[in-house]
Amino acid sequence: MVRGLSAVCGIIGVAVERGALPEKLGDVLYGCLKRLEYRGYDSVGIAFIDDLGRLVVRKSVGKIDEVREKIGFSEIDGVVGLGHTRWATHGRPSDENAHPHTDCSGTIAVVHNGIIENFSELRKWLENLGHRFRSETDTEVIPHLIEEFIRRGMSIYSAFKRAVSLLRGTYAIAAIYAGGRRILFARNTSPLVIGLGKGYNFIASDIPAFLRYTNRVVVVHDGELGYVTSSSVRLEAADGKVVSVETRARVVEWSPEAVEKGGYRHFMEKEILEQPQALAQTIAGLGEEVRRAAELIARAERVIFVAAGSSYHASIIGALALTRLAKVPSVPLVSSEARWWLGRWLSDRDVVIAVSQSGETIDTLIAVRIAKDLGAKVVALSNVLGSAIPRESHLAIYTRAGPEIGVAATKTFTTQVAALSYLAATVAKLRGEASRSEYEAVVEDLRRCPISASLAIESGRSLVSKALDVFVRSRSAFYLGRGFGLGVAKEGALKMKEVAYVHAEAYPAGESKHGPIALVEPGFPTLFCACSSEELEMVASNVEEMKSRGAVTILVAPRKLAERVRSADHVIEVPKHLSPAVQAIPLVIPLQMLAYETAVARGYDPDKPRNLAKTVTVI
Ligand code: AGP
Repeated sequence: MVRGLSAVCGIIGVAVERGALPEKLGDVLYGCLKRLEYRGYDSVGIAFIDDLGRLVVRKSVGKIDEVREKIGFSEIDGVVGLGHTRWATHGRPSDENAHPHTDCSGTIAVVHNGIIENFSELRKWLENLGHRFRSETDTEVIPHLIEEFIRRGMSIYSAFKRAVSLLRGTYAIAAIYAGGRRILFARNTSPLVIGLGKGYNFIASDIPAFLRYTNRVVVVHDGELGYVTSSSVRLEAADGKVVSVETRARVVEWSPEAVEKGGYRHFMEKEILEQPQALAQTIAGLGEEVRRAAELIARAERVIFVAAGSSYHASIIGALALTRLAKVPSVPLVSSEARWWLGRWLSDRDVVIAVSQSGETIDTLIAVRIAKDLGAKVVALSNVLGSAIPRESHLAIYTRAGPEIGVAATKTFTTQVAALSYLAATVAKLRGEASRSEYEAVVEDLRRCPISASLAIESGRSLVSKALDVFVRSRSAFYLGRGFGLGVAKEGALKMKEVAYVHAEAYPAGESKHGPIALVEPGFPTLFCACSSEELEMVASNVEEMKSRGAVTILVAPRKLAERVRSADHVIEVPKHLSPAVQAIPLVIPLQMLAYETAVARGYDPDKPRNLAKTVTVI
């Protein structure tokens, strides 16, 4: 039985006039793929057109640096090329399943991110017509479809359009062909952006891939397709009308250095340490968009957050801030579960807040579509301008953390918390639930937040010096908290799991007695998080419970408050804030640092955790 091997991937295409870029085509593709590697790193492949107009494909299983020599990037010269980095969702990564995929004649190469749902029927149809398949991927039907329509007399572009019209599912596709200088592209749901240069143009899964060469971008919308050459771009909307690229083009503020490691050991380290700056930029940029969202939320009956992973943890903190400070009943939902919970009870009096740093997480995007169908108003919070989730929402708020390359979310998490804290305070003020001074206290907390984030980095060093050994040796750990502290505990545990592979389990501290405490034995690391004196007082008894069973207890809490629980084996103090939501920011930073250093000490690469992709664009 043929099974489709789908993938979450990064794709890149470049069309360039000779000499217009400082490097040869192969080196440009290598650099772009390197910057896309965080999207997937099971296998790598490229295709290019050589001097004789022939299509050449080279691909291999492995990370880009492992296969750099084998693929021979530095020897490759030319004027049009494609690259792909793959994270397999079904089946094992292999050379055959690596992209690009080609047609029978080996003259058309395609890279794809997403899933072609109807690939089985298309493949059967093509096989009956005599097409020979080499891989088990869903993607391979695309070059064969193009080939089939060319055989029937269509031009390459018409054949491409016809092929795309038959696809069901999610895709960002780029294709090149022997003798051609165009890169054909199409998008449905999976992200795709065009980078506009002088004498060159790019097509890529996201902006960091080509940011070194250009910051003028055009986001391709769902249903759009077209092609780029070195000097032109054709973009057609779903209804076939030509879209004006000049009108759509935008300049992004991200600097090229932001996507380089710049002397740090890993992107994760760099991104943890640049949080003070990311917070300052985000807080400075929160203005009109927050006011408009706050007006909507202030009139809402209920607020439902939908998000995945770290964005879900930020949503726990945001929902709690809206509920407690603004008195708007709010709940966080894991977006992949939202379909089971959202129903006819949702109306236009409800607001759904979709939190996603990438703005492309498919589960969150689907939850947005469900919420809109049910009549709710949707507000997005994202770090990527023009990405799918903000585009499909009624309103969008942006964090300004800069590009995040490390697979583990760090600066995008803390900036989300900052934005949501400000949103909650603004709603509270509009609803008359917060006095002017209470509102001012949150604003002042946020103003101080970049400095307290810098000081929290010092607290992180202290946590690492005290707790690294025990985590490096442990296979499991507990992260416990209550209220806002639970959001922090969940985020800290996720970091530890995803980069250091320690089975860190986050639990509501009060719930730990209802089963999980049975796991505790002498030396078992248990980390407690508290964002307020109320939380700390309640967590204090849990510290005693764990300690009396031999656990190594570590408390991370605001300065002055932490003094009250001296019984923990290690007490890590962070700068104190009045708002428990803002307090989560300095509290989580030491936990990020502990996860990072544990991963490094255990010999793992925290930027490329096994089995993970930065942006999950398949369900
Ligand atoms: C966080 O460290 C993870 N890499 C992951 O859980 C992530 O937060 C999740 O996939 C959601 O991504 P998004 O914010 O881009 O939607």
